[in-house]
Amino acid sequence: MALKIDKTASPMEARGILTQFGSNVIHEDLNFHLPRGEIVGLVGGSGTGKSVLMNTLLGLKEPEGGMIRYFGYDREELSAEQRFELNTQIGVLFQGGALFSSLTVRENIMVPLREHTDLPVKLMRELADMKIHMVGLPPQSATLYPSDLSGGMKKRAGLARSLALDPEILFLDEPTAGLDPVGANAFDELILGLREAMDLTVLLITHDLDTLYTTCDKVAVLVDKHIAIVDSLPKVIAYEHPWVQEYFGGPRSRAALSAGKT
Ligand SMILES: Nc1ncnc2c1ncn2[C@@H]1O[C@H](COP(=O)(O)OP(=O)(O)O)[C@@H](O)[C@H]1O
Ligand SMILES: [Mg+2]
Repeated sequence: MALKIDKTASPMEARGILTQFGSNVIHEDLNFHLPRGEIVGLVGGSGTGKSVLMNTLLGLKEPEGGMIRYFGYDREELSAEQRFELNTQIGVLFQGGALFSSLTVRENIMVPLREHTDLPVKLMRELADMKIHMVGLPPQSATLYPSDLSGGMKKRAGLARSLALDPEILFLDEPTAGLDPVGANAFDELILGLREAMDLTVLLITHDLDTLYTTCDKVAVLVDKHIAIVDSLPKVIAYEHPWVQEYFGGPRSRAALSAGKT
């Protein structure tokens, strides 16, 4: 049966998630949801399980316990075909976000279209070129290979590929890591613009304090194997937890705050 997506339903909800590798427990009783239309920044120390959480929410790693719902549907209860359909509603930019090096930018963006649609190739090309335009790449970049692109352009091309199927939800794992501040700011602005244009709900894993200040509606903190708080940045900064206090109380955080970006 085809999957009917109710766009007013809660985009993503995770309850009581338990994930582990062998005896190494990564998440325990983790609860988390994405409010529709919001950009939620996810922070947490290195190795706390941010990427594993994203993979778990995507169904790439089965949790040992708990429940994940998209638009009110329990992932577990969907047929393989319905999950495939659900996947078209979720765009992903993985950490490091590798493009296929043997494909041009346009061909990279066409990969999800080929996988999930049977549109004529000419139309796929046009859709890919539209996405190239939307992420602010010049039209000529369509026929370039990833090795021809700067770091910032690669991120944009990866973003264009994640948006190929016009998803409702976008997962981004450290998209501005490795970009210079100018490139990172431009990428943040792009995310904000795309959220408006495409009505996206976004989970944005980041280490970038500027991104939290300028781009995120809410900030979620992954610490002690669960999401300890999801709230506005001022509320999160005031949250009494040693890691949170250290993270937001450090000199880099103060610099970002005093730059008036709150
Ligand atoms: N495939 C795997 N097998 C075993 N352990 C893993 C695997 N992937 C991740 N881990 C462990 O899970 C923890 C969280 O990793 P990760 O989600 O990548 O952290 P981060 O918050 O930096 O994104 C780390 O301690 C890592 O060693
Ligand atoms: Mg990670």
